Amino acid sequence: MINRIGVVGAGLMGHGIAEAFAIGGKDVAIYETDVGRRAGVKDVIAEELKLLEREGMIPKGSIPEIVARLHVYDDLKKAMADREYVIEAAPEIIDLKRKILADLDAACPKDAILASNTSSLALSEMARDLPVERKKRTIVNHWYNPAHIMPLVEISFFGDTSAETFEAAKALYLGIGKQPAKVLKDIPGLLANRIQQGVAREVFSLIEMGAAEPEDIDRALKFGPAFRYATTGQLEIADFGGLDIWSTVGGNLLAVMDNSRDANRLLKEKVKEGKLGVKTGEGFFKYPPAEKAAITERFMVKLIRQLKASKDYV
Ligand SMILES: NC(=O)c1ccc[n+]([C@@H]2O[C@H](COP(=O)([O-])OP(=O)(O)OC[C@H]3O[C@@H](n4cnc5c(N)ncnc54)[C@H](O)[C@@H]3O)[C@@H](O)[C@H]2O)c1
Repeated sequence: MINRIGVVGAGLMGHGIAEAFAIGGKDVAIYETDVGRRAGVKDVIAEELKLLEREGMIPKGSIPEIVARLHVYDDLKKAMADREYVIEAAPEIIDLKRKILADLDAACPKDAILASNTSSLALSEMARDLPVERKKRTIVNHWYNPAHIMPLVEISFFGDTSAETFEAAKALYLGIGKQPAKVLKDIPGLLANRIQQGVAREVFSLIEMGAAEPEDIDRALKFGPAFRYATTGQLEIADFGGLDIWSTVGGNLLAVMDNSRDANRLLKEKVKEGKLGVKTGEGFFKYPPAEKAAITERFMVKLIRQLKASKDYV
């Protein structure tokens, strides 16, 4: 069983990944280059753990013990010398990822597995310069944000990654309560982001054509398709509805739906106007500064309760 984890980068994703492993009982070494992030990461995690504790997702009084499993380093060699599984969550820049993987190859034990949380870079490109033996132990593990709550981790099984490495990764994630999805092709966006963009394209297009108010479009999604998606996949839903029906309705609707190959025009306009969503106080909806913290907490609480409910049907 893998117990000693390394995480490179303690930003949005890295801190959540470290947190998820620590909750799962693993010993976690975090390497981060930014002084401020290094100093603050344990506090950020402890704060998030309070919400999990309040919602009954971790035992009462367990926060100090979980935080004690996290060790923060400013020296990669010291951090990774005895790690069995190391995941990098550094910025999405190919040269940086290549350099980090090369440094990890030198710093980690020979049999350690190296993973990347890349959202869009090809494994073959990132691992290009690694020795053959290490390539067999290098893999993509794509987590979903917020990583300490969202169950999905997409795991690559393509390129030079060995079956042994894949199985070890899968067992590791199952052991900490995650839902690993095996991806067989090195395609941009892997599975979940491609599915999500397909839905988002139509949603943005419906807004742009004025088909409904934003609240009603999100209501149609939340209490329609997404309500089922939380428990039942698209392929299962197609089987329940009947493939003949899906074939007929698809034939009729797809011909009139958005098929653009670029980000939506309205979305780009909003970006130009500085309306970026919660972080700037306005996107499709408004987020007054005084309410931002409460709105963000509510979003987290909803996900935690969904996670709790999902324990009954996985
Ligand atoms: N943001 C998301 O929703 C999301 C989801 C899934 C995957 N990802 C992927 O995860 C990775 C990280 O994304 P993020 O959103 O957490 O970015 P981020 O900018 O929040 O965090 C990156 C962290 O890496 C640190 N860093 C930079 N260079 C480093 C180095 N050489 N060594 C160690 N640390 C270093 C930075 O200081 C920062 O704290 C990217 O590959 C991204 O594509 C992001």
